Amino acid sequence: VEIEERKQVEEKLKEYSERLEEMVEERTQELKEAHEALVRKEKLAVLGQWSSSIGHELRNPLGAIKNACYFLNMKMKTIEDEAVKDNIRIMNQEINTAGEIISDLSDFARIKLPVRREADINQLVTETLSRAEIPENITASTDFAVDMAPVSVDPVQIGQVFLNLIDNAVQAMGAGGALKISTRIKDEATEAIFADEGCGIPTNNLEKIFEPLFTTKTKGIGLGLALIRTLVEGHGGRIEVESEEGKGSTFTVRFVEKTHSSQRNLS
Ligand SMILES: Nc1ncnc2c1ncn2[C@@H]1O[C@H](COP(=O)(O)OP(=O)(O)O)[C@@H](O)[C@H]1O
Ligand SMILES: [Mg+2]
Repeated sequence: VEIEERKQVEEKLKEYSERLEEMVEERTQELKEAHEALVRKEKLAVLGQWSSSIGHELRNPLGAIKNACYFLNMKMKTIEDEAVKDNIRIMNQEINTAGEIISDLSDFARIKLPVRREADINQLVTETLSRAEIPENITASTDFAVDMAPVSVDPVQIGQVFLNLIDNAVQAMGAGGALKISTRIKDEATEAIFADEGCGIPTNNLEKIFEPLFTTKTKGIGLGLALIRTLVEGHGGRIEVESEEGKGSTFTVRFVEKTHSSQRNLS
């Protein structure tokens, strides 16, 4: 009888130690994620301060260059030198690109707390899509869930999230392709899914793409996805990516309603 009892106790202990390992692993993972989120936040805060002051300092010289360019352009009106004119055009173009980067930087510097209101995610996708620049070799289509309840979000911020995802998809499909945006309800959460047929993301980059300043583009600054992630997580939501090199990428934004998550925490 004693042996039986001891065996049972040993079994229990074994079970417990296995469960303990699992628990430690789970907690370690949680801790790791919390730590990463904190590091990301700090990085973003420092970057935000930097980008706002750099952006500010660059606006003035850029403005001066723009005026000089305008002046040259006026002077050149009477001259028939196509090469000179071309070069002035290039200068103008690049001044505009620089201006856009500066705007990105200051957008980035001004991440605020979300101002939520009940919003229709489908409508938000439609609105954003109409604002986006879609080249002719790309077809953008939508497939909306019809049974969606309004979600409490900051429409400006989520519009920014959607626009950034659309821009990235377009940039990934230089040779053209299809961008499919769909919405659905999954496990009580509202999801917006952006699927492109672009270049895809190599597996070892999947971890890095949400890091601030990670970019594989010659003209990219690598703040888009970092911004998106901060905004979505600021809403208590999640963003996930699946990708296959050469085939395309799918980004899923999941909004979890507050009431749902607290119900889950209680049980
Ligand atoms: N839809 C996509 N398809 C392929 N690669 C992508 C996609 N979206 C993002 N990426 C990758 O993630 C990187 C970071 O994206 P992002 O933070 O928006 O910065 P940026 O667009 O300035 O490069 C990109 O440089 C690219 O390598
Ligand atoms: Mg981008």
